[in-house]
Amino acid sequence: MEVLVPAPLTTASSVAAWLDHPTGGPLLRQLLASGGQDESALAPVRLLPLERLVALSGGQLSAEALSDLVRRATGAEDHRGATEQAPDTAHPSASPAARPAWRERVVPGRFTGQTVVVTGAGSGIGRATASRVAREGGRVVAVDVVADRLEALAADLGPRADAVGGRLVVVVADITEADGVARIVEAAGPDVAALANVAGVMDDMTPVHEVTDAVWERVMRINVDGTMRLTRAVVPLMLGRGGGSVVNVASEAALRGSAAGAAYTTSKHAVVGLTKSSAVMYGRLGVRVNAVAPGPVITGIEARFASELGAERIGGLLATIPEPVQPEQLAASITFLLSDDAVNVSGAVLASDGGWSAQ
Ligand SMILES: NC(=O)c1ccc[n+]([C@@H]2O[C@H](COP(=O)([O-])OP(=O)(O)OC[C@H]3O[C@@H](n4cnc5c(N)ncnc54)[C@H](O)[C@@H]3O)[C@@H](O)[C@H]2O)c1
Repeated sequence: MEVLVPAPLTTASSVAAWLDHPTGGPLLRQLLASGGQDESALAPVRLLPLERLVALSGGQLSAEALSDLVRRATGAEDHRGATEQAPDTAHPSASPAARPAWRERVVPGRFTGQTVVVTGAGSGIGRATASRVAREGGRVVAVDVVADRLEALAADLGPRADAVGGRLVVVVADITEADGVARIVEAAGPDVAALANVAGVMDDMTPVHEVTDAVWERVMRINVDGTMRLTRAVVPLMLGRGGGSVVNVASEAALRGSAAGAAYTTSKHAVVGLTKSSAVMYGRLGVRVNAVAPGPVITGIEARFASELGAERIGGLLATIPEPVQPEQLAASITFLLSDDAVNVSGAVLASDGGWSAQ
């Protein structure tokens, strides 16, 4: 059962709290509908404060429309609690709109001649990583459990990869299944230079006394077991060719206890453990193993609050985190570690989180 952040609603309440609120929910849906959208558009940002939507909407949602929404939902002119901060408006130059836009700068030929396996390639961070590697000349073995996502990737990326000498091989496979892992390895062939373990799922923000076996087992199976199983199969290929690079996608939840529920937090701490153990084991054998810990990223990942305690503890803390970024910004960090540019880096956990980990 999904439980709500308690009323009253403010602009600092999470998008999820607004959607689940008996008055705020219908009003927010109405606002979305007036822009030709529905609530599925908000899935990646459900955990963020409502006020972040202005900056994230790229002009589709104005600050005035948001104020009007809050007024109608709460009947209040001053909708901000006395202790709440306004990170985007307190300092005008802090607004993302005032900053120069980041631009992806492709490094031609950085992965030429290399086979790079990327999991979770159908969506979000994995898709952006697969795309960047292919556009930098790599042969990408793009893995996902959802076939139509890979078809869309192939249609979009295939011709662009071909144009720069890159290649895309898609494999519909579940990284938690032995036959899925076997098919990935077969498609990759013996000469695998790099592996990006990106596939992962979020939990439902439950503390340990509320987590269900189903959520715990799913999160651990995909985030930990799947990552381990594919790495276990690919590392011997890297050892056979004298070296390689593995990048595991962890999370801010690997660095702190306040970014997710018990299951996801535990799983991502385990990913860091696997990363460090492997870096030590293979360091002298030429295989580098690193992790990237993303902060909030706008992707298709699903997260929900199924716990009142989780919503109160985690939802409140999420109000102060950095802006969510585009998956391409994570791909920039991941491809750095995958590439020879990171020749001297192993066992690192690179926080790619806009500075969240420094807070
Ligand atoms: N989005 C964020 O804010 C964020 C923050 C921190 C960490 N992460 C991590 O980044 C990684 C990528 O997440 P995303 O946000 O791009 O999510 P996403 O849901 O957009 O993409 C994940 C992809 O992984 C695939 N996948 C899931 N289980 C699989 C399996 N068993 N086998 C093969 N493929 C599978 C899904 O089908 C999906 O296409 C995850 O490990 C996630 O935990 C994301």
